[in-house]
Amino acid sequence: MQALTVVPLSKGSARLDDVPEPPEEDGPVLVETLGVGICGTDIEILSGEYGWAPPGRERLVLGHESLGRVVEAPSGSGLAAGDHVVGIVRRPDPVPCSNCAVGEWDFCRNGKYTERGIKEHDGYLSERYRIQPDFVVKVDEGLGMLGVLLEPTSVVAKAWEQVDRIGGRAHWSPSSVVVTGAGPIGLLAAMIGVQRGLDVHVIDQVEDGLKPKLVAELGATYHTGPIEQAVEAPDIVLECTGVSSLVLDAMEHVGPGGVVCLTGVSSGGRPVEVDEGDLNRSMVLSNEAVVGSVNANRRHYEAAAEALAAAERSWLSKLVTRQVPLASWQDALDRKPDDVKVVIQVATP
Ligand code: BGC
Repeated sequence: MQALTVVPLSKGSARLDDVPEPPEEDGPVLVETLGVGICGTDIEILSGEYGWAPPGRERLVLGHESLGRVVEAPSGSGLAAGDHVVGIVRRPDPVPCSNCAVGEWDFCRNGKYTERGIKEHDGYLSERYRIQPDFVVKVDEGLGMLGVLLEPTSVVAKAWEQVDRIGGRAHWSPSSVVVTGAGPIGLLAAMIGVQRGLDVHVIDQVEDGLKPKLVAELGATYHTGPIEQAVEAPDIVLECTGVSSLVLDAMEHVGPGGVVCLTGVSSGGRPVEVDEGDLNRSMVLSNEAVVGSVNANRRHYEAAAEALAAAERSWLSKLVTRQVPLASWQDALDRKPDDVKVVIQVATP
């Protein structure tokens, strides 16, 4: 079968390969891949900046934002041929650490977890893959290819859970949220904010085009300026860019008792000047919290499935700006100005 493979940490090594059928040891559920979304992590892997091949191998099958159709599943697994499913990305570490032992692999403590399509475990960008039933989440067939949005939505569902849990350390009735970045993660985070009845503000750089339109259609407000101009003292800032200056801005301008949740991975190497004393003083005197959030466990995938089910289908469909057949995978990586989520189509849903 065909698969898009890459040599991690080797720029320009991606190619469409003929690979063996998925190994039985990956699990008894056989899935036919329908599509795979491309995200910043994939671009980093393709640029030779991130990723790990499976032990003893040179190449990794790419792809972690998947949508597939079950071909065969054992009885009693709750899955049947034809079901539309998404594969969970992370697998617990084998030790396991105290968090992986209870299904909270997104909080793995020893870093020995694996991630499909990212770290030491082949991804989903192959015509078929095998998986354990516990790592499969069913999605509404009516979503069609939009089911690929489940994985990125699970990442923001986890971020929202962190915000709730931390906010809940005292009386918590937030009214405003600033989301930095109108990429797929930012837009999906904003969507959940609107679903929660919050006053949602999204900040990005582009002045016009699809992103401001998508934000307006959500019922949120779009800005291109700094956080403090968007809304004064927001209760929550969901940072979805990883741009270091925005991270600092978020810490400086979140409101008293507010929560800053960081979801973007910064590249580093761009030091900025900070008045650490001033930052510390305002964080302490205002009980501010800053939390990093990565990955998602099964609970978050399930919350994400509910958020997608509650979303306006026509709005969601505008997030998938291009679908590119597997044979033309290179086109998917060629970013166009109005791209939000580009999907590599492997089969027809
Ligand atoms: C994925 C996460 C993963 C993270 C770090 C993200 O793109 O969505 O599941 O944990 O990259 O590897």
